[in-house]
Amino acid sequence: MKTKTAATLFEALTSEARLSVFRLLVKYAPDGLVAGEISRLLGIPKTNLSFHLKTLVHSGLTSMEREGRNTRYRANIPLMLDIIAYLTAECCTGNPGQCQAYRSASGLDTRFLPPRADLFREQGGTTVNSLLTSDSATADKQRPENQQEEQRTDDQVRELVRANYAAIATGNHSCCCSGKRSGQNDPFMLACSVGYDAKTLERLPQGANMGLSCGNPVAIAALQEGQVVLDLGCGGGFDVFQAGEQVKAAGRVIGVDMTMEMIARARKNQEQYKKFTGLENVEFRLGEIEHLPVADASVDVVLSNCVINLSPDKAQVWREVFRVLKSGGKVSVSDQALLKPLPDNVRSMVAALVGCVAGAILVEDTRALLKAAGFSSIILTPRSDYVQNMQNWNDPLYRQIGEALPEGGELSDYITSLSIEAWK
Ligand SMILES: C[S@@+](CC[C@H](N)C(=O)[O-])C[C@H]1O[C@@H](n2cnc3c(N)ncnc32)[C@H](O)[C@@H]1O
Repeated sequence: MKTKTAATLFEALTSEARLSVFRLLVKYAPDGLVAGEISRLLGIPKTNLSFHLKTLVHSGLTSMEREGRNTRYRANIPLMLDIIAYLTAECCTGNPGQCQAYRSASGLDTRFLPPRADLFREQGGTTVNSLLTSDSATADKQRPENQQEEQRTDDQVRELVRANYAAIATGNHSCCCSGKRSGQNDPFMLACSVGYDAKTLERLPQGANMGLSCGNPVAIAALQEGQVVLDLGCGGGFDVFQAGEQVKAAGRVIGVDMTMEMIARARKNQEQYKKFTGLENVEFRLGEIEHLPVADASVDVVLSNCVINLSPDKAQVWREVFRVLKSGGKVSVSDQALLKPLPDNVRSMVAALVGCVAGAILVEDTRALLKAAGFSSIILTPRSDYVQNMQNWNDPLYRQIGEALPEGGELSDYITSLSIEAWK
């Protein structure tokens, strides 16, 4: 982000009223609020509010959408993350020692929105709904955090996930303070630690590896020349490009991702891939893995790396995978899974959700979903290496989760990386 742009955005927030409106939208209203609700919650008269809302919309920090006779206002979360990244990015590249100190002091991984549970506490335990609907704030205060979180609809979950991965894809998070991992925990080291070999990684387009994987599905896929491969939640194309080289010119690899910014990044990487390999056998499609933009019985192998846990409807994902696979086709997936249920306070953390932990399900539940979708031969292999490395490298998210576990609880008792193989 250019300094001039950042200055314009900060200028839009230089009023107590606008800052309060923006914070309200960010903190409590992923679905947005209409002007009347904002006015009521903040006690700002509607006549004054409309000027402030116009300024926020004009800056791009807030979007507006007609809804019958009302207008709904939503915070532009990716842009907010970008201005935070603008402030913090240099602390790593310019002054790595100091950056490390900031990270330790904050105890937060700023890649992600702060956990909502913390924000509820900060505001005395009330939620927007309780404030809006009545005097039932007290009842809401007593409701456990997990029940509040369970009210998120599937679409809200997807929006949270999308916003966070959009911010990662646009790359303003130049290092440890707000985006990519750094030092020992950088994308290259991380990929090596889950089984990718250094030579393969060096051949990849720059920016394809964002350190977002938790296993190596390409390795277990044993791909053959000429196969059609599909990668669910392909990100910047990390596994797509590797698979493309293995299936060669006679094969084809399709990457699907619901985040437009990821698809844009992958398509940019594709130019580099073509230059380097001379291959034109990969493509990227925008879409949700619950509704794959892929024909029935057209794929030999389905890959996915640390994505299915993010889906709010995993049963539907597996049904879609079964639909698109040819008879005899193979699933070759790495994902995060649970060895035992997570405590509610961890499940309710947004950071844990978008960090591929809170949405993970039990290993045996994965088996049940695969069976229900129609798969017959199923091999599930838990792998402890990924979680172990995250702990050893003092990854901020894993540290935060570790601290939220009950006394004596170990991360590795709960979370594992899982290799999933199954055949249609
Ligand atoms: C943890 S990243 C993994 C990216 C990539 N597989 C890699 O290893 O680099 C998760 C990716 O899945 C995408 N994603 C999450 N939920 C999705 C869904 N329901 N449908 C499609 N894509 C999804 C995100 O946009 C993001 O790019």
